[in-house]
Amino acid sequence: MRVRFKEHRVDSLYFGVDFGTTNSSVAVYDGSKARALPLDLRNDLPTSLPSLLYISREGDHIVGRGAADAFIERNVDREVKTRQVDLNMAVEAYVGAEPDKSEVYNPGLVDPEVRQAMRVRTTIEVNAPGRLFQSLKTLLRQPQFKSTEVFGAQYQIEELVAFILKPMKEAADRHAGYDVDTAVFGRPVRFSEEDEENTLAEGRLRTAAALAGFKNVVFFFEPVGACVEYAVETGERQRLMVVDIGGGTCDVCIMDFQGCVNVAERLASSRILGVAGLPVAGDALDREIIRDRIFPLLGSRARYGPSHLPMPQYIYSQILDWQNIYKFNTEEMINWLLAAEVYSNHPEGLRALRCLIQKNYGYLVAREVEAAKKRLSESESTHIVIRKEDIQIDDTLAREEFAHIIEYTIEEMRDCIVEAERNAGVAPGEIDLVLTTGGTCLVPAIRVMLENRYGREKLRSRDSFTSVATGLAVVARYV
Ligand SMILES: Nc1ncnc2c1ncn2[C@@H]1O[C@H](COP(=O)(O)OP(=O)(O)OP(=O)(O)O)[C@@H](O)[C@H]1O
Ligand SMILES: [Mg+2]
Repeated sequence: MRVRFKEHRVDSLYFGVDFGTTNSSVAVYDGSKARALPLDLRNDLPTSLPSLLYISREGDHIVGRGAADAFIERNVDREVKTRQVDLNMAVEAYVGAEPDKSEVYNPGLVDPEVRQAMRVRTTIEVNAPGRLFQSLKTLLRQPQFKSTEVFGAQYQIEELVAFILKPMKEAADRHAGYDVDTAVFGRPVRFSEEDEENTLAEGRLRTAAALAGFKNVVFFFEPVGACVEYAVETGERQRLMVVDIGGGTCDVCIMDFQGCVNVAERLASSRILGVAGLPVAGDALDREIIRDRIFPLLGSRARYGPSHLPMPQYIYSQILDWQNIYKFNTEEMINWLLAAEVYSNHPEGLRALRCLIQKNYGYLVAREVEAAKKRLSESESTHIVIRKEDIQIDDTLAREEFAHIIEYTIEEMRDCIVEAERNAGVAPGEIDLVLTTGGTCLVPAIRVMLENRYGREKLRSRDSFTSVATGLAVVARYV
Protein backbone atom coordinates (compact mmCIF):
# COMPACT_ATOMS: atom_id res chain seq x y z
CA MET A 1 0.00 0.00 0.00
CA ARG A 2 1.55 3.33 -1.01
CA VAL A 3 0.44 6.61 0.52
CA ARG A 4 0.52 9.42 -1.98
CA PHE A 5 2.49 11.97 0.00
CA LYS A 6 3.67 14.85 -2.16
CA GLU A 7 4.41 18.50 -1.90
CA HIS A 8 1.81 20.56 -3.73
CA ARG A 9 0.20 23.05 -1.39
CA VAL A 10 1.50 26.44 -0.55
CA ASP A 11 -0.62 27.20 2.55
CA SER A 12 1.58 27.85 5.50
CA LEU A 13 -0.41 26.02 8.18
CA TYR A 14 -1.76 22.48 8.15
CA PHE A 15 -4.24 20.92 10.57
CA GLY A 16 -4.83 17.42 11.88
CA VAL A 17 -7.95 16.44 13.82
CA ASP A 18 -8.36 13.39 16.03
CA PHE A 19 -11.97 12.92 17.10
CA GLY A 20 -11.64 10.30 19.83
CA THR A 21 -14.18 8.19 21.68
CA THR A 22 -12.97 9.67 24.98
CA ASN A 23 -10.67 12.59 24.10
CA SER A 24 -10.23 14.73 21.00
CA SER A 25 -7.38 16.91 19.82
CA VAL A 26 -6.35 19.21 17.00
CA ALA A 27 -2.78 19.97 15.93
CA VAL A 28 -1.07 22.40 13.60
CA TYR A 29 2.07 21.96 11.47
CA ASP A 30 3.89 25.01 10.16
CA GLY A 31 6.35 23.14 7.95
CA SER A 32 8.95 22.68 10.65
CA LYS A 33 7.15 21.95 13.91
CA ALA A 34 3.88 20.22 14.74
CA ARG A 35 2.04 20.75 18.00
CA ALA A 36 -1.34 20.21 19.60
CA LEU A 37 -3.43 23.31 20.28
CA PRO A 38 -4.99 24.14 23.66
CA LEU A 39 -8.67 23.18 23.66
CA ASP A 40 -10.01 22.83 27.17
CA LEU A 41 -8.41 24.87 29.93
CA ARG A 42 -10.54 23.09 32.57
CA ASN A 43 -9.03 19.76 31.62
CA ASP A 44 -5.92 18.34 33.32
CA LEU A 45 -4.36 18.20 29.86
CA PRO A 46 -5.54 21.39 28.09
CA THR A 47 -4.56 20.10 24.61
CA SER A 48 -7.07 17.29 25.01
CA LEU A 49 -10.83 17.85 24.92
CA PRO A 50 -12.95 15.20 26.67
CA SER A 51 -15.45 14.08 24.00
CA LEU A 52 -18.43 14.86 26.23
CA LEU A 53 -21.51 16.90 25.37
CA TYR A 54 -24.11 18.25 27.79
CA ILE A 55 -27.37 19.70 26.49
CA SER A 56 -29.45 21.54 29.05
CA ARG A 57 -33.23 21.79 29.08
CA GLU A 58 -32.82 25.46 28.10
CA GLY A 59 -30.89 24.36 24.99
CA ASP A 60 -27.35 25.28 26.13
CA HIS A 61 -24.54 23.08 24.88
CA ILE A 62 -21.44 22.46 26.97
CA VAL A 63 -18.53 20.45 25.60
CA GLY A 64 -15.51 18.91 27.34
CA ARG A 65 -14.71 18.78 31.05
CA GLY A 66 -17.40 21.39 31.75
CA ALA A 67 -20.03 19.01 30.34
CA ALA A 68 -19.24 16.40 33.00
CA ASP A 69 -19.18 19.05 35.75
CA ALA A 70 -22.52 20.51 34.66
CA PHE A 71 -24.14 17.08 34.52
CA ILE A 72 -22.97 16.07 37.98
CA GLU A 73 -23.83 19.43 39.51
CA ARG A 74 -27.32 19.63 38.08
CA ASN A 75 -28.48 16.05 37.54
CA VAL A 76 -27.01 13.72 40.11
CA ASP A 77 -28.67 13.18 43.54
CA ARG A 78 -31.91 14.27 42.00
CA GLU A 79 -35.07 12.20 42.13
CA VAL A 80 -35.60 11.29 38.48
CA LYS A 81 -39.18 11.29 37.32
CA THR A 82 -40.13 9.50 34.14
CA ARG A 83 -43.27 9.08 32.16
CA GLN A 84 -44.23 6.41 29.65
CA VAL A 85 -45.30 7.84 26.34
CA ASP A 86 -47.47 5.81 24.02
CA LEU A 87 -46.39 6.12 20.41
CA ASN A 88 -49.75 4.78 19.13
CA MET A 89 -48.38 1.83 17.23
CA ALA A 90 -48.13 -1.89 17.82
CA VAL A 91 -45.23 -4.20 17.00
CA GLU A 92 -44.37 -7.79 17.64
CA ALA A 93 -41.10 -8.35 19.43
CA TYR A 94 -39.29 -10.58 21.84
CA VAL A 95 -39.96 -9.14 25.23
CA GLY A 96 -36.67 -9.05 27.03
CA ALA A 97 -34.58 -9.18 23.89
CA GLU A 98 -32.27 -6.18 23.44
CA PRO A 99 -34.83 -3.48 24.18
CA ASP A 100 -34.33 -0.38 22.15
CA LYS A 101 -35.73 2.89 23.35
CA SER A 102 -39.10 2.19 21.80
CA GLU A 103 -39.62 -1.14 23.49
CA VAL A 104 -41.65 -1.90 26.58
CA TYR A 105 -39.90 -4.17 29.00
CA ASN A 106 -41.12 -5.49 32.25
CA PRO A 107 -38.53 -7.72 33.85
CA GLY A 108 -39.62 -10.61 35.96
CA LEU A 109 -43.24 -10.41 34.92
CA VAL A 110 -42.75 -11.87 31.47
CA ASP A 111 -40.79 -14.75 30.06
CA PRO A 112 -37.93 -13.24 28.05
CA GLU A 113 -38.37 -15.86 25.35
CA VAL A 114 -42.06 -15.21 24.74
CA ARG A 115 -42.84 -13.46 21.52
CA GLN A 116 -45.59 -10.95 22.14
CA ALA A 117 -47.42 -8.26 20.38
CA MET A 118 -46.96 -5.08 22.32
CA ARG A 119 -47.63 -1.41 22.18
CA VAL A 120 -44.68 0.77 21.43
CA ARG A 121 -43.98 3.07 24.31
CA THR A 122 -40.92 4.93 25.31
CA THR A 123 -39.73 6.22 28.66
CA ILE A 124 -38.88 9.86 28.98
CA GLU A 125 -37.56 11.78 31.93
CA VAL A 126 -39.88 14.61 32.80
CA ASN A 127 -37.72 16.71 35.09
CA ALA A 128 -34.14 16.25 33.86
CA PRO A 129 -32.22 19.54 33.75
CA GLY A 130 -29.98 18.18 31.00
CA ARG A 131 -28.57 15.22 29.16
CA LEU A 132 -24.95 14.08 28.91
CA PHE A 133 -23.55 12.24 25.88
CA GLN A 134 -20.41 10.14 26.15
CA SER A 135 -18.58 7.96 23.56
CA LEU A 136 -20.53 9.53 20.67
CA LYS A 137 -17.96 8.11 18.24
CA THR A 138 -19.26 4.63 19.03
CA LEU A 139 -22.76 5.70 17.94
CA LEU A 140 -21.48 6.72 14.47
CA ARG A 141 -21.43 3.09 13.38
CA GLN A 142 -24.92 2.21 14.59
CA PRO A 143 -27.43 2.36 11.70
CA GLN A 144 -30.36 2.32 14.17
CA PHE A 145 -29.09 5.44 15.93
CA LYS A 146 -29.99 8.23 13.53
CA SER A 147 -31.16 10.91 15.88
CA THR A 148 -32.39 11.47 19.39
CA GLU A 149 -34.88 13.81 20.97
CA VAL A 150 -33.51 16.09 23.66
CA PHE A 151 -36.14 18.22 25.39
CA GLY A 152 -38.37 18.36 22.35
CA ALA A 153 -35.61 19.10 19.83
CA GLN A 154 -34.44 16.43 17.43
CA TYR A 155 -30.65 16.05 17.05
CA GLN A 156 -29.09 13.97 14.27
CA ILE A 157 -26.01 11.99 15.30
CA GLU A 158 -23.93 14.19 12.94
CA GLU A 159 -25.12 17.31 14.77
CA LEU A 160 -24.17 15.86 18.16
CA VAL A 161 -20.67 15.03 16.89
CA ALA A 162 -20.35 18.48 15.30
CA PHE A 163 -20.76 20.04 18.77
CA ILE A 164 -17.54 18.28 19.83
CA LEU A 165 -15.73 19.27 16.62
CA LYS A 166 -16.67 22.97 16.83
CA PRO A 167 -14.24 23.91 19.64
CA MET A 168 -11.49 22.26 17.58
CA LYS A 169 -12.41 24.29 14.52
CA GLU A 170 -12.46 27.44 16.69
CA ALA A 171 -9.03 26.62 18.12
CA ALA A 172 -7.67 26.16 14.58
CA ASP A 173 -9.26 29.45 13.42
CA ARG A 174 -7.93 31.28 16.46
CA HIS A 175 -4.43 29.98 15.85
CA ALA A 176 -4.45 30.65 12.10
CA GLY A 177 -6.33 33.95 12.18
CA TYR A 178 -8.47 32.82 9.24
CA ASP A 179 -11.28 30.36 8.51
CA VAL A 180 -9.63 26.94 8.51
CA ASP A 181 -11.80 24.76 6.30
CA THR A 182 -9.31 22.04 5.41
CA ALA A 183 -7.90 19.32 7.65
CA VAL A 184 -6.75 15.74 7.74
CA PHE A 185 -9.06 13.77 10.01
CA GLY A 186 -8.19 10.52 11.67
CA ARG A 187 -10.48 7.54 11.57
CA PRO A 188 -10.07 4.16 13.22
CA VAL A 189 -9.04 1.26 11.00
CA ARG A 190 -12.39 -0.27 11.92
CA PHE A 191 -15.25 1.70 13.43
CA SER A 192 -17.06 -1.64 13.36
CA GLU A 193 -16.54 -5.28 12.34
CA GLU A 194 -19.14 -4.73 9.59
CA ASP A 195 -18.01 -3.09 6.33
CA GLU A 196 -21.32 -1.30 5.82
CA GLU A 197 -21.14 0.20 9.30
CA ASN A 198 -17.60 1.42 8.59
CA THR A 199 -18.74 3.23 5.49
CA LEU A 200 -21.73 4.66 7.36
CA ALA A 201 -19.55 5.90 10.24
CA GLU A 202 -16.99 7.59 7.98
CA GLY A 203 -19.76 9.29 5.98
CA ARG A 204 -21.38 10.56 9.16
CA LEU A 205 -18.06 11.86 10.49
CA ARG A 206 -17.49 13.69 7.20
CA THR A 207 -20.93 15.32 7.48
CA ALA A 208 -20.27 16.27 11.11
CA ALA A 209 -16.93 17.80 10.09
CA ALA A 210 -18.65 19.87 7.40
CA LEU A 211 -21.29 21.03 9.91
CA ALA A 212 -18.46 22.20 12.17
CA GLY A 213 -16.89 24.10 9.27
CA PHE A 214 -14.24 21.67 8.01
CA LYS A 215 -15.43 21.57 4.39
CA ASN A 216 -12.42 19.75 2.90
CA VAL A 217 -11.55 16.66 4.83
CA VAL A 218 -9.20 13.82 3.95
CA PHE A 219 -9.28 10.74 6.18
CA PHE A 220 -6.22 8.82 7.30
CA PHE A 221 -6.06 5.91 9.69
CA GLU A 222 -5.38 7.19 13.21
CA PRO A 223 -2.29 4.98 13.79
CA VAL A 224 -0.72 6.33 10.58
CA GLY A 225 -0.82 9.75 12.29
CA ALA A 226 1.05 8.39 15.31
CA CYS A 227 3.58 6.65 13.05
CA VAL A 228 4.32 9.83 11.08
CA GLU A 229 4.57 11.86 14.30
CA TYR A 230 7.48 9.66 15.36
CA ALA A 231 9.03 9.19 11.92
CA VAL A 232 9.49 12.89 11.20
CA GLU A 233 11.67 13.15 14.31
CA THR A 234 14.25 10.64 13.16
CA GLY A 235 16.10 10.24 9.89
CA GLU A 236 16.69 6.53 10.11
CA ARG A 237 15.56 3.75 7.85
CA GLN A 238 13.16 1.75 10.01
CA ARG A 239 10.09 -0.43 10.17
CA LEU A 240 7.65 0.95 12.73
CA MET A 241 4.57 -0.54 14.28
CA VAL A 242 2.00 1.65 16.05
CA VAL A 243 -0.38 0.18 18.61
CA ASP A 244 -3.02 2.79 19.45
CA ILE A 245 -5.59 1.64 21.99
CA GLY A 246 -8.00 4.37 23.06
CA GLY A 247 -11.50 4.38 24.52
CA GLY A 248 -13.37 2.72 21.66
CA THR A 249 -10.93 1.16 19.23
CA CYS A 250 -7.64 -0.69 19.01
CA ASP A 251 -5.71 0.34 15.90
CA VAL A 252 -2.49 -1.10 14.55
CA CYS A 253 -0.35 -0.09 11.61
CA ILE A 254 3.05 -1.16 10.29
CA MET A 255 5.03 1.27 8.10
CA ASP A 256 8.42 1.33 6.42
CA PHE A 257 10.49 4.52 6.31
CA GLN A 258 13.64 5.03 4.26
CA GLY A 259 16.67 6.72 5.76
CA CYS A 260 16.59 10.41 4.80
CA VAL A 261 16.49 13.58 6.85
CA ASN A 262 14.23 15.63 4.61
CA VAL A 263 10.65 15.21 5.88
CA ALA A 264 9.06 15.45 2.44
CA GLU A 265 11.33 12.75 1.01
CA ARG A 266 10.89 10.67 4.11
CA LEU A 267 7.12 10.65 3.79
CA ALA A 268 7.17 10.28 0.01
CA SER A 269 9.26 7.13 0.33
CA SER A 270 7.21 5.66 3.20
CA ARG A 271 5.01 2.63 2.74
CA ILE A 272 2.08 1.33 4.80
CA LEU A 273 2.70 -2.41 4.94
CA GLY A 274 -0.41 -3.43 6.82
CA VAL A 275 -3.12 -2.29 9.23
CA ALA A 276 -5.69 -3.95 11.49
CA GLY A 277 -8.41 -2.66 13.78
CA LEU A 278 -10.79 -3.82 16.47
CA PRO A 279 -13.75 -1.84 17.83
CA VAL A 280 -12.86 -2.76 21.42
CA ALA A 281 -10.73 -0.70 23.85
CA GLY A 282 -10.82 1.14 27.20
CA ASP A 283 -14.61 1.45 27.43
CA ALA A 284 -14.77 -2.36 27.20
CA LEU A 285 -12.32 -2.70 30.11
CA ASP A 286 -14.53 -0.44 32.25
CA ARG A 287 -17.52 -2.63 31.38
CA GLU A 288 -15.60 -5.77 32.42
CA ILE A 289 -14.96 -4.25 35.86
CA ILE A 290 -18.59 -3.19 36.21
CA ARG A 291 -19.86 -6.63 35.20
CA ASP A 292 -17.44 -8.52 37.41
CA ARG A 293 -17.17 -6.32 40.50
CA ILE A 294 -20.03 -3.81 40.65
CA PHE A 295 -23.06 -5.71 39.37
CA PRO A 296 -22.84 -8.49 42.00
CA LEU A 297 -23.09 -5.69 44.60
CA LEU A 298 -26.20 -4.48 42.76
CA GLY A 299 -27.86 -7.88 43.02
CA SER A 300 -26.92 -9.42 39.65
CA ARG A 301 -26.43 -12.80 41.33
CA ALA A 302 -29.43 -12.43 43.66
CA ARG A 303 -32.47 -14.65 43.67
CA TYR A 304 -35.92 -13.29 44.24
CA GLY A 305 -39.50 -14.38 44.82
CA PRO A 306 -40.91 -17.56 46.36
CA SER A 307 -39.37 -19.65 43.53
CA HIS A 308 -35.92 -18.10 43.98
CA LEU A 309 -35.67 -16.95 40.39
CA PRO A 310 -32.39 -15.48 39.20
CA MET A 311 -32.45 -11.74 38.52
CA PRO A 312 -33.21 -11.01 34.84
CA GLN A 313 -29.76 -10.49 33.35
CA TYR A 314 -30.86 -8.22 30.54
CA ILE A 315 -31.44 -5.42 33.07
CA TYR A 316 -27.73 -5.58 33.78
CA SER A 317 -26.68 -5.98 30.15
CA GLN A 318 -28.70 -2.85 29.36
CA ILE A 319 -27.43 -0.68 32.21
CA LEU A 320 -23.83 -1.66 31.44
CA ASP A 321 -24.01 1.55 29.43
CA TRP A 322 -25.06 4.05 32.10
CA GLN A 323 -26.72 6.16 29.42
CA ASN A 324 -29.53 3.55 29.30
CA ILE A 325 -30.28 3.53 33.02
CA TYR A 326 -32.97 6.21 32.98
CA LYS A 327 -35.13 4.05 30.73
CA PHE A 328 -35.64 1.66 33.66
CA ASN A 329 -36.98 4.39 35.89
CA THR A 330 -40.62 3.52 35.35
CA GLU A 331 -43.21 3.08 38.06
CA GLU A 332 -43.67 -0.54 36.96
CA MET A 333 -39.97 -1.30 37.26
CA ILE A 334 -39.53 0.43 40.61
CA ASN A 335 -42.55 -1.37 42.06
CA TRP A 336 -41.21 -4.64 40.74
CA LEU A 337 -37.81 -3.99 42.33
CA LEU A 338 -39.47 -3.10 45.64
CA ALA A 339 -41.39 -6.38 45.58
CA ALA A 340 -38.32 -8.37 44.50
CA GLU A 341 -36.34 -6.83 47.36
CA VAL A 342 -38.74 -8.19 49.96
CA TYR A 343 -38.31 -11.81 48.87
CA SER A 344 -34.71 -11.58 47.80
CA ASN A 345 -31.67 -13.27 49.30
CA HIS A 346 -29.71 -10.04 48.62
CA PRO A 347 -32.08 -7.18 49.49
CA GLU A 348 -29.31 -4.60 49.98
CA GLY A 349 -28.07 -5.31 46.41
CA LEU A 350 -31.52 -4.74 44.94
CA ARG A 351 -31.94 -1.61 47.06
CA ALA A 352 -28.66 -0.32 45.68
CA LEU A 353 -29.83 -1.08 42.14
CA ARG A 354 -33.07 0.81 42.77
CA CYS A 355 -31.14 3.76 44.19
CA LEU A 356 -28.85 3.77 41.13
CA ILE A 357 -31.87 3.89 38.82
CA GLN A 358 -33.93 6.40 40.77
CA LYS A 359 -31.20 8.87 41.65
CA ASN A 360 -29.15 9.01 38.45
CA TYR A 361 -25.92 7.64 39.91
CA GLY A 362 -24.92 5.73 36.75
CA TYR A 363 -22.39 8.25 35.49
CA LEU A 364 -20.78 8.59 38.93
CA VAL A 365 -20.35 4.82 39.15
CA ALA A 366 -18.89 4.66 35.62
CA ARG A 367 -16.51 7.52 36.42
CA GLU A 368 -15.28 5.93 39.63
CA VAL A 369 -14.71 2.60 37.86
CA GLU A 370 -12.73 4.32 35.10
CA ALA A 371 -10.70 6.25 37.69
CA ALA A 372 -9.96 3.00 39.58
CA LYS A 373 -8.83 1.37 36.32
CA LYS A 374 -6.44 4.28 35.71
CA ARG A 375 -5.08 4.09 39.28
CA LEU A 376 -4.22 0.44 38.63
CA SER A 377 -1.76 1.59 35.97
CA GLU A 378 0.24 3.14 38.82
CA SER A 379 -0.51 0.98 41.87
CA GLU A 380 -0.73 -2.73 42.52
CA SER A 381 -4.14 -2.40 44.14
CA THR A 382 -6.92 0.15 44.53
CA HIS A 383 -10.25 0.72 46.26
CA ILE A 384 -13.44 1.31 44.34
CA VAL A 385 -15.41 3.45 46.76
CA ILE A 386 -18.92 4.63 45.93
CA ARG A 387 -20.97 5.79 48.87
CA LYS A 388 -24.26 7.31 47.87
CA GLU A 389 -27.33 6.61 50.02
CA ASP A 390 -28.24 2.95 49.47
CA ILE A 391 -25.18 2.37 47.29
CA GLN A 392 -22.41 1.46 49.72
CA ILE A 393 -19.56 -0.01 47.69
CA ASP A 394 -16.03 -0.39 49.01
CA ASP A 395 -14.26 -2.99 46.94
CA THR A 396 -10.56 -3.70 46.70
CA LEU A 397 -9.34 -4.49 43.21
CA ALA A 398 -5.80 -5.77 42.70
CA ARG A 399 -3.94 -5.21 39.44
CA GLU A 400 -3.61 -8.97 39.08
CA GLU A 401 -7.36 -9.48 39.47
CA PHE A 402 -8.01 -6.75 36.91
CA ALA A 403 -5.61 -8.47 34.49
CA HIS A 404 -7.56 -11.68 34.99
CA ILE A 405 -10.94 -9.98 34.40
CA ILE A 406 -9.77 -8.50 31.09
CA GLU A 407 -7.83 -11.57 29.88
CA TYR A 408 -10.17 -12.33 27.00
CA THR A 409 -10.26 -8.71 25.80
CA ILE A 410 -6.46 -8.56 25.82
CA GLU A 411 -6.39 -11.73 23.75
CA GLU A 412 -8.66 -10.05 21.19
CA MET A 413 -6.24 -7.09 21.08
CA ARG A 414 -3.31 -9.47 20.60
CA ASP A 415 -5.16 -11.17 17.73
CA CYS A 416 -5.64 -7.74 16.14
CA ILE A 417 -1.89 -7.06 16.37
CA VAL A 418 -1.10 -10.48 14.87
CA GLU A 419 -3.53 -9.72 12.05
CA ALA A 420 -1.64 -6.50 11.26
CA GLU A 421 1.62 -8.50 11.08
CA ARG A 422 -0.07 -11.03 8.79
CA ASN A 423 -1.49 -8.29 6.55
CA ALA A 424 1.95 -6.71 6.35
CA GLY A 425 3.67 -10.06 5.80
CA VAL A 426 6.18 -9.45 8.59
CA ALA A 427 7.24 -11.44 11.66
CA PRO A 428 7.61 -9.80 15.12
CA GLY A 429 11.41 -9.97 14.78
CA GLU A 430 11.27 -7.90 11.58
CA ILE A 431 9.76 -4.88 13.36
CA ASP A 432 12.33 -2.34 14.59
CA LEU A 433 10.19 -0.36 17.04
CA VAL A 434 6.71 -0.66 18.51
CA LEU A 435 5.23 2.76 19.32
CA THR A 436 2.39 2.76 21.81
CA THR A 437 -0.20 5.49 22.13
CA GLY A 438 -3.79 5.90 23.34
CA GLY A 439 -4.74 5.92 27.04
CA THR A 440 -5.43 2.18 27.19
CA CYS A 441 -1.84 1.31 26.23
CA LEU A 442 -1.01 2.47 29.78
CA VAL A 443 -2.73 -0.64 31.19
CA PRO A 444 0.12 -2.81 32.58
CA ALA A 445 -1.40 -6.10 31.35
CA ILE A 446 -1.39 -4.70 27.80
CA ARG A 447 2.23 -3.60 28.12
CA VAL A 448 3.13 -7.10 29.33
CA MET A 449 1.39 -8.60 26.30
CA LEU A 450 3.42 -6.30 24.00
CA GLU A 451 6.69 -6.94 25.86
CA ASN A 452 6.18 -10.68 25.57
CA ARG A 453 5.73 -10.41 21.82
CA TYR A 454 8.35 -7.81 20.86
CA GLY A 455 10.72 -7.47 23.83
CA ARG A 456 10.74 -4.52 26.22
CA GLU A 457 13.64 -2.79 24.42
CA LYS A 458 11.51 -2.30 21.28
CA LEU A 459 8.62 -0.50 22.99
CA ARG A 460 8.46 3.30 22.87
CA SER A 461 5.62 5.24 24.51
CA ARG A 462 4.40 8.24 22.56
CA ASP A 463 2.13 10.94 23.99
CA SER A 464 -1.08 9.03 24.77
CA PHE A 465 -3.50 11.79 23.86
CA THR A 466 -2.02 14.04 21.15
CA SER A 467 0.37 11.98 19.00
CA VAL A 468 -2.31 11.04 16.45
CA ALA A 469 -3.47 14.63 15.77
CA THR A 470 0.14 15.87 15.71
CA GLY A 471 1.12 13.32 13.04
CA LEU A 472 -2.03 14.00 11.04
CA ALA A 473 -1.13 17.70 10.88
CA VAL A 474 2.19 16.72 9.26
CA VAL A 475 0.35 14.39 6.90
CA ALA A 476 -1.88 17.35 5.94
CA ARG A 477 1.20 19.13 4.59
CA TYR A 478 2.11 16.33 2.21
CA VAL A 479 -1.10 14.75 0.91
N1 LIG B 1 -3.55 5.86 33.07
C1 LIG B 1 -4.43 5.11 32.40
N2 LIG B 1 -4.50 3.77 32.60
C2 LIG B 1 -5.40 3.02 31.96
N3 LIG B 1 -6.30 3.50 31.07
C3 LIG B 1 -6.27 4.82 30.83
C4 LIG B 1 -5.34 5.69 31.47
N4 LIG B 1 -5.57 6.97 31.03
C5 LIG B 1 -6.59 6.88 30.17
N5 LIG B 1 -7.02 5.60 30.04
C6 LIG B 1 -8.13 5.11 29.21
O1 LIG B 1 -7.82 5.40 27.87
C7 LIG B 1 -9.03 5.64 27.15
C8 LIG B 1 -8.93 6.98 26.46
O2 LIG B 1 -7.79 6.97 25.67
P1 LIG B 1 -7.68 7.94 24.41
O3 LIG B 1 -7.90 9.33 24.81
O4 LIG B 1 -6.42 7.58 23.73
O5 LIG B 1 -8.92 7.40 23.57
P2 LIG B 1 -9.61 8.08 22.31
O6 LIG B 1 -8.56 8.52 21.37
O7 LIG B 1 -10.58 9.08 22.78
O8 LIG B 1 -10.43 6.83 21.74
P3 LIG B 1 -10.38 6.10 20.32
O9 LIG B 1 -9.06 6.37 19.71
O10 LIG B 1 -10.57 4.67 20.68
O11 LIG B 1 -11.52 6.66 19.57
C9 LIG B 1 -10.15 5.60 28.16
O12 LIG B 1 -10.76 4.34 28.12
C10 LIG B 1 -9.43 5.82 29.48
O13 LIG B 1 -10.12 5.25 30.56
MG1 LIG C 1 -7.56 7.71 19.81
